Amino acid sequence: MTATEKPNILLFGAGSVGAVYCYLLSKVGTVTAVCRSNYDTVKTNGFIINSDIFGKNIQFRPNIVRSCSEAAANNIPLDYLVVCSKSTPGIPEAIRPAVTPNHTSIVLIQNGVGIEDEYVQAFETNPIVSCVLYMPATQRPAGVISHREIELLEVGNYPANSKSQSAANFVDLLTSAGATAKLYDDIQLKRWYKLLLNASWNPVCALTLCTDVDFMTSSEEATHFIYDIMMEVAAIARAYGHDISDDLVEYQLGRAKARISTGGGIEPSMMQDIKHGRRMEVDAIIGNAVRMAKEKNVPCEKLRTVYILVKALDSLTERRRNV
Ligand SMILES: NC(=O)c1ccc[n+]([C@@H]2O[C@H](COP(=O)([O-])OP(=O)(O)OC[C@H]3O[C@@H](n4cnc5c(N)ncnc54)[C@H](OP(=O)(O)O)[C@@H]3O)[C@@H](O)[C@H]2O)c1
Repeated sequence: MTATEKPNILLFGAGSVGAVYCYLLSKVGTVTAVCRSNYDTVKTNGFIINSDIFGKNIQFRPNIVRSCSEAAANNIPLDYLVVCSKSTPGIPEAIRPAVTPNHTSIVLIQNGVGIEDEYVQAFETNPIVSCVLYMPATQRPAGVISHREIELLEVGNYPANSKSQSAANFVDLLTSAGATAKLYDDIQLKRWYKLLLNASWNPVCALTLCTDVDFMTSSEEATHFIYDIMMEVAAIARAYGHDISDDLVEYQLGRAKARISTGGGIEPSMMQDIKHGRRMEVDAIIGNAVRMAKEKNVPCEKLRTVYILVKALDSLTERRRNV
């Protein structure tokens, strides 16, 4: 690819996050999106994005396909394959047909920790770019995306000591597309920092069907419980060399506490998933952290307990979906 050529990009998982980045990256690249349940709607009507940042009633029709095999049929090597699906098993095999060894950069825009290793193992010669996203977005109904006030992608190479230029190039690409992207040497620190919120609020709100504010105001013990989970997550992060201080934990907890006075509780994604009968990102967001704790003998009894409970809930959801 020369400096003047547009990069060839495949976006895997065109849900709420994927649709927004499909729209942005289409300004600077040749983009195709893999759609699943929303394929027919998007094929007929395109996407409509209502964004507090990028504008309301944005209508656009990306080139869409049903699978990575279909995307690969034109034999043009992909420069970037951007994974925006939820972090669930089997994605490396689903994207394999579209990955050109030694060439395609695989970009993961997903929550959780420990999610990159399966891609490193599956694609030994491809650069892996890991991204932490702050962007509240939902898709309801199919093809219609609502995006609220923030859009920030924190981006880094995986592993951190990689000499690849991919993360820096992807940041430049996003910036030229009008997105907000920042490059980090150690993106794992950023992943653990976000995990303080995700590993605590997500399972607790999914299990109790309380918003964060409803949970905190339900008993004297409730806020302490969340704090304890966050402290366990911080201890695991520190065991892996990522400096999550007690002050950072206080800060993350304080963000929810500040909402008590306004009454504006948040429904984390796992709570929304369980309410709509969808699978949750249990292992990426909690299970991997519990496994990593075990490997370094870091106690995390509260995190482990919510993992066991939410894993059971997710298994039940899977069985019900398969009936
Ligand atoms: N939404 C947010 O506010 C937000 C904010 C920060 C981070 N994140 C993270 O960003 C990631 C994406 O979240 P999201 O909210 O955009 O999820 P989403 O709305 O559920 O979208 C995911 C999309 O991926 C598709 N998909 C999943 N597996 C697929 C497969 N095997 N083949 C083809 N398509 C597949 C889904 O199709 P189906 O509809 O058929 O399932 C769906 O369209 C997650 O890791 C999430 O934790 C989300």
